[in-house]
Amino acid sequence: MRPLRTAIFPVAGLGTRFLPATKAQPKEMLTVIDKPLIQFAVEEAVSAGITRLIFVIGRTKRSIADHFDANPELDMLLRSKGKDKMADYLRAIVPPSCCCIYFRQAEALGLGHAVACAAPVIDADEPFAVLLADDLMDGTVPVLAQMAQQFESSGRSMLAVKEVAPSETGSYGIVDADLPPEGELSRVRGMVEKPAEGSAPSNLAVVGRYILDGRIMDMLKDQAPGSGGEVLLTDAISKLIDGPGVDAYRFKGHRYDCGSKIGFIEATMAHALAHPEYGAQTRSMMRALLDAEKSK
Ligand code: G1P
Repeated sequence: MRPLRTAIFPVAGLGTRFLPATKAQPKEMLTVIDKPLIQFAVEEAVSAGITRLIFVIGRTKRSIADHFDANPELDMLLRSKGKDKMADYLRAIVPPSCCCIYFRQAEALGLGHAVACAAPVIDADEPFAVLLADDLMDGTVPVLAQMAQQFESSGRSMLAVKEVAPSETGSYGIVDADLPPEGELSRVRGMVEKPAEGSAPSNLAVVGRYILDGRIMDMLKDQAPGSGGEVLLTDAISKLIDGPGVDAYRFKGHRYDCGSKIGFIEATMAHALAHPEYGAQTRSMMRALLDAEKSK
């Protein structure tokens, strides 16, 4: 097995939950303060040693490719105005050691189908990460970097998991595994996509960070659509569980569900409070808003 150097970002979803914001722009370009969700995910991947960034894009997603391209006109303009720091920052989003590869997914046929679009550049002995940008992950050590470190010694596929309320199992892939201590691994016995409350094998939900064995591409190739008519990544992962094995990793950090409006609001509030420039002002603004609520 080769070292982990590749990450796939499936970004071809339609983002209907965020209409009208996503009518003409991808949901992954929605920003928390001033940074698009997809940039958070790319920075997390780069911090984990990833050097091949593979984007599976769909219609209305060209702005993603533009976002990670060099922009010489903007660079010159910023430098002529003395804004070298911003110009340097923009240049460093994708370091020179990294390359970006783009695949088009013509139809949104499910997460498994999106991942399989990258098959032409993934060899069977090549592990790769999958990052779902609408899961915004905060950790003192970036979550994918935590996983990459574990993977160096385990060499096995890995799913980031967190505990959810029993009423929420229907929104996630749920693993059959014992709850690992934070920062540790536990072997996965099975996985079910979005089981109804009461029929889930546990309350350990998979969130959008995976490290997968390159052989999964072969498993996805001929896979029939599963529940909801979609080609599910979960079905192919089940085959890995029965084959070379899969671990659940209980990450250290916080996950914001930016695929939902309330999760997006939470992420925005948390990042505003922690912002080096605007944190203090945000705090007093929030207090004032809450006091005004109370006196209504
Ligand atoms: C996808 C996966 C699911 C996983 C979730 C994490 O679902 O199919 O297994 O738990 O991402 O966010 P989606 O949210 O795309 O419906």
